[in-house]
Amino acid sequence: MFMTLPLNLRMLLQMLVGLLCAVGASGTDNGTAQPGPPPLLLVSFDGFRADYLKRFPMPNLERLYSQGVLVEQLTNVFITKTFPNHYSLVTGLYAESHGILASNMYDPVTHKSFHVGGNVSDPVWWSEARPLWLTAQDSGYKTATAMWPGSDVAIGNRTASHFLPYNSHVTFQQRLKNVTKWMLGDEKEPPAMFAALYWEEPDRSGHIFGPDNDTAMSQVLKEVDANVGLLVEELTSTGLWGRVNVLVTSDHGMAQCSAERLIRLDDCLHPDNYTLVDLSPVTALIPRQDPEGVFDLLNKCHPHMTVYLKSAIPDRLHYRNNGRTQPIILIAAEGWTIVRNGNQLPRLGDHGYDNSLPSMHPFMAAAGPSFRQGYRVGSLQSVDIYPLMCRLLSVPAQPNNGTLNRARCLLVAETCWEVPVMVALVVGVLLVLTVITGESGLTSDTRPLLYCWGFCPCSHIGLTRSSVFLIIYF
Ligand SMILES: *[C@@H]1O[C@H](CO)[C@@H](O)[C@H](O)[C@H]1NC(C)=O
Ligand SMILES: *[C@@H]1O[C@H](CO)[C@@H](O)[C@H](O)[C@H]1NC(C)=O
Ligand SMILES: *[C@@H]1O[C@H](CO)[C@@H](O)[C@H](O)[C@H]1NC(C)=O
Ligand SMILES: *[C@@H]1O[C@H](CO)[C@@H](O)[C@H](O)[C@H]1NC(C)=O
Ligand SMILES: *[C@@H]1O[C@H](CO)[C@@H](O)[C@H](O)[C@H]1NC(C)=O
Ligand SMILES: *[C@@H]1O[C@H](CO)[C@@H](O)[C@H](O)[C@H]1NC(C)=O
Ligand SMILES: *[C@@H]1O[C@H](CO)[C@@H](O)[C@H](O)[C@H]1NC(C)=O
Ligand SMILES: [Zn+2]
Repeated sequence: MFMTLPLNLRMLLQMLVGLLCAVGASGTDNGTAQPGPPPLLLVSFDGFRADYLKRFPMPNLERLYSQGVLVEQLTNVFITKTFPNHYSLVTGLYAESHGILASNMYDPVTHKSFHVGGNVSDPVWWSEARPLWLTAQDSGYKTATAMWPGSDVAIGNRTASHFLPYNSHVTFQQRLKNVTKWMLGDEKEPPAMFAALYWEEPDRSGHIFGPDNDTAMSQVLKEVDANVGLLVEELTSTGLWGRVNVLVTSDHGMAQCSAERLIRLDDCLHPDNYTLVDLSPVTALIPRQDPEGVFDLLNKCHPHMTVYLKSAIPDRLHYRNNGRTQPIILIAAEGWTIVRNGNQLPRLGDHGYDNSLPSMHPFMAAAGPSFRQGYRVGSLQSVDIYPLMCRLLSVPAQPNNGTLNRARCLLVAETCWEVPVMVALVVGVLLVLTVITGESGLTSDTRPLLYCWGFCPCSHIGLTRSSVFLIIYF
């Protein structure tokens, strides 16, 4: 669209751009006053399904994100299990790229097995990636972890500077007190710049009672919210609140299961025909002989189960390209449970299903000096949290599958104009100008003029990096 504008309109336009810049600059005046980045505390409440936030009152969590940001839904990684997703949060990698593919794994190269609940401390499982607590150490920072999955494993022969060996009996408060102590530091030890804190609820109760049990879930979420209260209280009393960035998130959601939704493998295929590696809701198995015959039998086994030969696993699941992905995987439909035989439902709630299901999605909330206040977005990828945390800590990110671009708007120093707003703004301005001037169309003396945010007076607030350009021809 080309237009010829009178000089006064051009000035008006420049004033408008200036005004927008001024609005964008507010709140960042003191952004560079602090030496070094603020410390970062990452907290995970296992199995916190995104819609719990809407179903149950969570006053402490609401207070936290009203002072910061809320991402209503995180698209997590397949399979939507605890270990794969916790490792994705601290590496930014899909399961196929970090190597923690399930709660039960078999490695055909080393012939080793991995079982959550058993001994998971063999570094061989973890060494395909490097978690943030090690990368931050490489930048000279102290780091601390409290029960975060994998954080008591000597990955590359290293752990965080401080860690707690996994023990489900250690209370939330004890984990928290250790973490704040490490984040404060003392005469001997500098403060930890990055800390990761893990808590087993509401996952544990979600499995036992099922997410649809309002009575049980409202009780457990009350307790989880009380823990958020403890967290804020502890950070406040130690003087850390307001100085550190706090990021509260989770690994996956939870789906309601039922004894009416069982898929029995033995009904379709004799168990002698395969070695079972993992069972439900994603079965991983190795056919003994005749893989195609085994596949055919399983493929017509049940309408609520999808069967893939390894080579046919869809790209979008990011699950195919790893030696630990077994030759055949079966994926139960939402709320269905795969068993070998019988009528016994093992759990009333489960997760692990397709990561495109909203019931599998967790949320993310954050507050602290680097975050905008009272800001909300609908969704984000969980792999984006890693590059976001690297930016918060000014630590170089390892190669990963996330991008900072999608998370940028959460940050106060990265004032961003979302593309739809930008487009609406440009179209609006042009429309108004067209109406005012009453003329539009090509003219011989059109001078294209590029209003790039990088050249306008707002470059100091980071708009250069917003990669949004306002192009106005006149
Ligand atoms: C900016 O930061 C300094 C040092 O932290 C503080 O003393 C000052 O009050 C801050 N100014 C504003 C406007 O927040
Ligand atoms: C767990 O495995 C690691 C590495 O394989 C081994 O060093 C450790 O002793 C084992 N721990 C237990 C309790 O079996
Ligand atoms: C791992 O660390 C321990 C203690 O820090 C050291 O004795 C050992 O040699 C290291 N092993 C390797 C393989 O680097
Ligand atoms: C730190 O955790 C340990 C258990 O690993 C616990 O015994 C101790 O009391 C905790 N420290 C504090 C200050 O709570
Ligand atoms: C829900 O959980 C409660 C325990 O909090 C239990 O007593 C009740 O039977 C459960 N209801 C259903 C429908 O499972
Ligand atoms: C499954 O196992 C049975 C019994 O061991 C055998 O007779 C049959 O051929 C096997 N079928 C396939 C498809 O491997
Ligand atoms: C994910 O990131 C890893 C490391 O950079 C890379 O090797 C892999 O190809 C990426 N996966 C996708 C789907 O881009
Ligand atoms: Zn979990």
